Amino acid sequence: MIQIAPSLLSADFSRLEQEAADVAAGGANLLHLDVMDGHFVPNITFGPCVVSSLRAKTRLFFDVHFMLCDPLTYVTPFAKAGADMITFHYESGADIQKTIDAIKSAGLKVGMAVKPGTDAAVLEPFLPQLDMALVMTVEPGFGGQRFMPQMLPKVEYLSRWAKKNRRPLWIQVDGGIDAVTAKAAVCAGADVLVAGSAVFGAEDRGQAIRAILRSAGEAV
Ligand code: DX5
Ligand code: ZN
Repeated sequence: MIQIAPSLLSADFSRLEQEAADVAAGGANLLHLDVMDGHFVPNITFGPCVVSSLRAKTRLFFDVHFMLCDPLTYVTPFAKAGADMITFHYESGADIQKTIDAIKSAGLKVGMAVKPGTDAAVLEPFLPQLDMALVMTVEPGFGGQRFMPQMLPKVEYLSRWAKKNRRPLWIQVDGGIDAVTAKAAVCAGADVLVAGSAVFGAEDRGQAIRAILRSAGEAV
């Protein structure tokens, strides 16, 4: 089953409750929350208090994407705020094992992400412990960028690994996903598609979500 995770980064931040309700009504089960610290990426978004306020307003699964230099410090605040899953970057410089352990002990699902310049094979030692691997298909930091098809071999590699090792690993792609690029991502093995501008930039979010799912081969 293919899942769409609309990225709140492209939503109207003055009406987050309605934006979340809109994508939930449109068929999304996940909400992708991009947390940026102005250091790991040249952009700043929101912290745990925003997540906690939104947690009270929606039942969507909170898929939190940490673009932070110090993910370990922020695991507990975001877990308390209501994250369901935390994905952190291989390139963050964190103690990876400690960060995975902290996320798991907080009772959350755990993911790891790689930027476009990083080989997916660096994740291999950690894959058996992960619920999700995230392949960035743009440079992290901003919505609305162009999908990088040259990242697809990483998705294929992860998908092969999951099959070979019979692991229920979610494979997420993030960046430039729309009703055209989703098809290639899913063919390569992705099953969680983050879409920011393609969903929140559309007048009818449900229609946008269904268009992406249809292009991914789902009957909707
Ligand atoms: C970028 C973020 C993405 C972003 C995707 O650093 O990680 O989640 O919102 O936006 P689109 O779908 O517009 O490329
Ligand atoms: Zn993201």
